[in-house]
Amino acid sequence: MKLRKALITAGGKGTRLRPITYVHNKHLIPLVNKPMLQYAIEYVASAGIKEIGIITNPDFEDLEKAFGNGKMFGVRLTYIPQEAPLGLAHAVITGESFLKGEPFVYYLGDNILRGGIQQFLNAFHENKSDCHLVLSKVRDPQRFGVPQIVDKRIISIEEKPEKPKSDYAVTGIYLYNESIYEAVHAIQPSPRGELEISDAHQYLIEHNRKVTYSEITGWWKDTGKPEDLLEANRMLLQDVQNHHSGYSDDKSVLAGQVFLSEGSVVENSIIRGPVHIGKNCRILNSYLGPYTCIGNGCEILNSEIEYSILMDDAAIRDVDIRIESSILGKSAVIRKTEGIPANHRFIIGDQSQVQIR
Ligand code: TTP
Repeated sequence: MKLRKALITAGGKGTRLRPITYVHNKHLIPLVNKPMLQYAIEYVASAGIKEIGIITNPDFEDLEKAFGNGKMFGVRLTYIPQEAPLGLAHAVITGESFLKGEPFVYYLGDNILRGGIQQFLNAFHENKSDCHLVLSKVRDPQRFGVPQIVDKRIISIEEKPEKPKSDYAVTGIYLYNESIYEAVHAIQPSPRGELEISDAHQYLIEHNRKVTYSEITGWWKDTGKPEDLLEANRMLLQDVQNHHSGYSDDKSVLAGQVFLSEGSVVENSIIRGPVHIGKNCRILNSYLGPYTCIGNGCEILNSEIEYSILMDDAAIRDVDIRIESSILGKSAVIRKTEGIPANHRFIIGDQSQVQIR
């Protein structure tokens, strides 16, 4: 049966991305100036799936404002609030009445990969699988669900094992037929109080269901932590094309792939791509290094920045050290202190991080 439906997660707590997630749903954090969740929606849409359920927290106004009914992506979006972030298997139970017993793609909305998902749908159909998992080799399998593989068959799966039985992580892309519903209802909450999707997979294996897998050979990132956001941003920036609809003066150098959106102005500055600059930004006497992404309405004056993400209306003014590996939220400002004493002054929210030399 052709897959017609997908369930994409956009709820959860986002504790590892605080303080940004105090204000924004993590799935709206921009990567190359596009909300993270949009990548998931576009991958699913390009695999020909038109009916998408989005698992959300009870308050999903921001998501609805950003993505509406999905028309702009050629799909129909249904927002499905989860009573609380009680686990990835609980999110499947939450989506059950939307899915109506059909096979579906389950996609964690904070996963970013390259190359789309069509090949995984094909493998699911060709193998006549009950459950098809997408694996990726990682350096730190302890953070993930980890499969044990013997003779190209998954014989067990453990969630965040201390002693992983392989160096594969189960990524956040799964394909299921109706057997997953029996599994998610049968399992019990884990010690951390969540219904774990790895336990549902283990249930399927133990009940002789056909659990198959594909391996991602390109890149894949689960954007749980700030450094993962920067890395996902870096990977996505590699595909940025040269596009100069903003203005740059004769004294500026734009080298490599630089996307300069309309209304933005670059004066007496060096921009070394890949760099993506949103609309109506002002960059003056500054250096923007590779893998930097600047939202709309940002200002960089007399400063240097590299491998960073600035959200809309953020500003860096007259800072005489190079800023690197940094994430600035909306309207955040870093600027030189004026007058005396020439000390450091900070007004930063809960759980913010500042690293100074
Ligand atoms: P996680 O990264 O496991 O959890 P989280 O987003 O709450 O972050 P943290 O661990 O930093 O607190 O979630 C993976 C994806 O699933 C992500 O898209 C959020 C979503 N999710 C839900 O929608 N419902 C849930 O019950 C859980 C646990 C996660």
